[in-house]
Amino acid sequence: MLDTTLTPAPEAQEQVGHDQPSLAVQIAGITMKNPLTVGSGTYGHHGNFSQFFPVETMGALVPKTIRNYRWPGNPAPRVYEVTAGLHSSVGIPSNDWETFAAKDAQILRDLKLPVIQSVIGRTEDEYVEIVEKCDALGFLAGLELNLSCPNLKQGGLDFGYDPAAASRLVARVRKATRLPVIAKLAPDYSSLVNVAKAVEAAGADAIALVNAPRAMCIDYQTRKPIIGNKIGALSGAAIKPMAVYMVWQLYRSVQIPLFGMGGVSDYRDVVEFMAAGARAVAFGTINYVDPMALPRAIADLRQYLLDQGINDVNELVGSAHD
Ligand SMILES: Cc1cc2nc3c(=O)[nH]c(=O)nc-3n(C[C@H](O)[C@H](O)[C@H](O)COP(=O)(O)O)c2cc1C
Repeated sequence: MLDTTLTPAPEAQEQVGHDQPSLAVQIAGITMKNPLTVGSGTYGHHGNFSQFFPVETMGALVPKTIRNYRWPGNPAPRVYEVTAGLHSSVGIPSNDWETFAAKDAQILRDLKLPVIQSVIGRTEDEYVEIVEKCDALGFLAGLELNLSCPNLKQGGLDFGYDPAAASRLVARVRKATRLPVIAKLAPDYSSLVNVAKAVEAAGADAIALVNAPRAMCIDYQTRKPIIGNKIGALSGAAIKPMAVYMVWQLYRSVQIPLFGMGGVSDYRDVVEFMAAGARAVAFGTINYVDPMALPRAIADLRQYLLDQGINDVNELVGSAHD
């Protein structure tokens, strides 16, 4: 019987031919076979979207942020569609650690791609505790610190808005793990560069930006906020130019590599973020609209590089800068 596993089909041979551009990137010591990943919270806790395409198609998986304790999340309604975007406040519902370790982590462990777990805490201690537990799992490729959380011991300002708080936190986390640490920043025009420089100096290996900016929608008939938490966030195409600008600005401000995101929906957006300075690019809200957008963008990106005569996707990084 013919063993087809040893005989690549002609199209498969073409895929690995020398004339194919290289899509692989290195970011924070993590090797991604292509620069595409997903924004935390938009692809489930353990790649639940695998019903649409194999999770391993993407360069790395960033699952939903977890806490060190069970948390119900915010009251419904949690999401509301707006012009060119999504208004949401999910509130990061989380299992307790034991449930995560026994269930989700077991699924993540078997995936054949780098998994970067996103974590959050209300205090430095809570971040450090969850980071140590994640590190001990032994299979993660990196940790993403979701800094969009009010710092309960320091007046409630988000860690990501306060350079001193962000710096202290990253320095403590840095000591608690040998895994690459990625600081995910909130998009705040006035503090962004200072926070980015602070987390870089404190030992972060990369920065992910942007998290979804704060937003509100009010029902004109009831004249009350629409979503349960009243205050939410805005994501999707509406925020893309702002996010591209912020990536562009941080590329000029820090040396560590950047994961770019905010309204990405196809390969053209990937090129835009990479030209601004991102080494890897995440698909977020689009996953809810078109779950096949990411795998399609990988093929389209490869074709774009071929058409442009570019051999290596890394050549795109920062190409918008003089
Ligand atoms: C419904 C929803 C849930 C999200 N949950 C998280 C989360 O748990 N952790 C996190 O760091 N970001 C979370 N985000 C932010 C996204 O990862 C991403 O940074 C942001 O939405 C911008 O990208 P986008 O415009 O492509 O969605 C969430 C976004 C949405 C829309």
